[in-house]
Amino acid sequence: MPNDNPFQDPLRFERQAPECAVVIFGANGDLTKRKLIPALYRLAYDRRLAAGFAVVGTSRTPMTDDQFREKMREAVEKFSEDTPLDEDVWGAFARGLYYIAGDVKDPGMYQTLAAKLEQVEGERHTGGNVLFYLSTQPSQYAIIARGIGAGGMGKGGGWRRLVVEKPFGHDMASARELSNQLHEVFDESDVYRIDHYLGKETVQNILAFRFGNGIFEPLWNRRYVDHVQITGAESIGVEGRGAYYQEVGALDDMIQNHLLQVMATVAMEPSASFRATSVRDERSKLLRSIRPWSPDEVLKNTVPGQYGPARIGGEDVPGFRQEPGVDPAAQTDTYAGLTLYVDTWRWAGVPFYIRTGKRLPKRVTEIAIQFKSAPLHLFNRDADADGLNLLILRIQPEEGISLRFLSKRPGSGMTLRPVSMDFNYGSSFGERSPSAYETLLLDAIIGDPTLYTRQDMVEASWAVVEPIQNVWRNHKFDFPNYASGSWGPAASDEMLARNGHAWRRP
Ligand code: BG6
Repeated sequence: MPNDNPFQDPLRFERQAPECAVVIFGANGDLTKRKLIPALYRLAYDRRLAAGFAVVGTSRTPMTDDQFREKMREAVEKFSEDTPLDEDVWGAFARGLYYIAGDVKDPGMYQTLAAKLEQVEGERHTGGNVLFYLSTQPSQYAIIARGIGAGGMGKGGGWRRLVVEKPFGHDMASARELSNQLHEVFDESDVYRIDHYLGKETVQNILAFRFGNGIFEPLWNRRYVDHVQITGAESIGVEGRGAYYQEVGALDDMIQNHLLQVMATVAMEPSASFRATSVRDERSKLLRSIRPWSPDEVLKNTVPGQYGPARIGGEDVPGFRQEPGVDPAAQTDTYAGLTLYVDTWRWAGVPFYIRTGKRLPKRVTEIAIQFKSAPLHLFNRDADADGLNLLILRIQPEEGISLRFLSKRPGSGMTLRPVSMDFNYGSSFGERSPSAYETLLLDAIIGDPTLYTRQDMVEASWAVVEPIQNVWRNHKFDFPNYASGSWGPAASDEMLARNGHAWRRP
């Protein structure tokens, strides 16, 4: 059994979920198995869920409640890496798992679901509270929301909320249309658009770092910051998602949502309070202050890339166009590098460089704040004295914060060399960090939307991304333009070099 002693783990008792039922659409899918059920099980293990808790899974595959429970048990065994399957906790959790099969396009399925919810409410005492979680094809989101409304489940005895997975639209018009469709049944305040990056501990820590301390914020502006680099690099390729990915590309898959949210967190103004509206307002304001590029400017300030084949560590790695399900002439971007500016007094003239890509040399997500150098160089330096006056916020892996600065080398001369001051999450706290889905699911059940994106934020992101998307789609790039296992296209290095900057090699 998990440790019960409140003196040994006071945090465990901090936030408790009220009773509720979580309805998962797409319950036979990958996300449910890999993320949602393991996260909910972990919340149960940590005693954060109410006794009156239930999950109703639904998808087209016929299954009984017991078969669903068995499948979810396998999922927890396989994907809950750091949580053991405790028979007592699992037993209690599994009794609250239910399943119905149905096609989301069939109105009858919503009648069945409503009846099942009634049964579950009677058996589990979920208080009429329902969290609907859409983990299906995005083309089904509006259909499901309407079905929930038509089935009389949009309102009820308790609260009703809707969690929507990404992608939220594929451009400004479709995002707005989707919001309108969801609003036919759910108020904006009950729509929770999930962006799992906002749930990452280290992304949340950016706010703590900036606004919980007095020493960094006075430097956090154009007077002291030379430029900012945000990197979301992945070493994996498209991992069997080729057919989906070729329609989406790196810009929409990673930047429109995750990395722009990270940028907003790094650059936003201090929020007047830590209330959801206040924090979201500041994020939104920041996103709306990013200068959108004209078509000519897009070609100068953005670089798309696509990986080609390579031989890495004695193995042949296919190019994107050779991946299963991918058109051999695909023009998809698997890399995106952007220069952005934030038109505010705080940030005027400071470049924010953002890059993401598949099949880069390593998996690393980080933010590097490059401060200006000292006005005079009084001392001799080692030849490799670059990467100074640099603050690195490491989101993953090896979560932590490093400050790089010059120090005197021991000896009689006055020669300086760069050193690092490091904070490492793992060793400093020695505690497990909850996964992003644990944090976000608990927030949605509690009714705290701080880490969810709001309609205006999504639209502000599309206002930045859409002009780039339009130029990229109508331009024929010479792809592939970077080899698997390299740091991306040369044009991306050249983009920074024009400003006298260079991408870090994390
Ligand atoms: C997803 C993207 O949203 O984020 C994937 O669709 C990407 O392509 C993933 O691999 C990265 O998430 P994380 O948490 O592994 O950095």
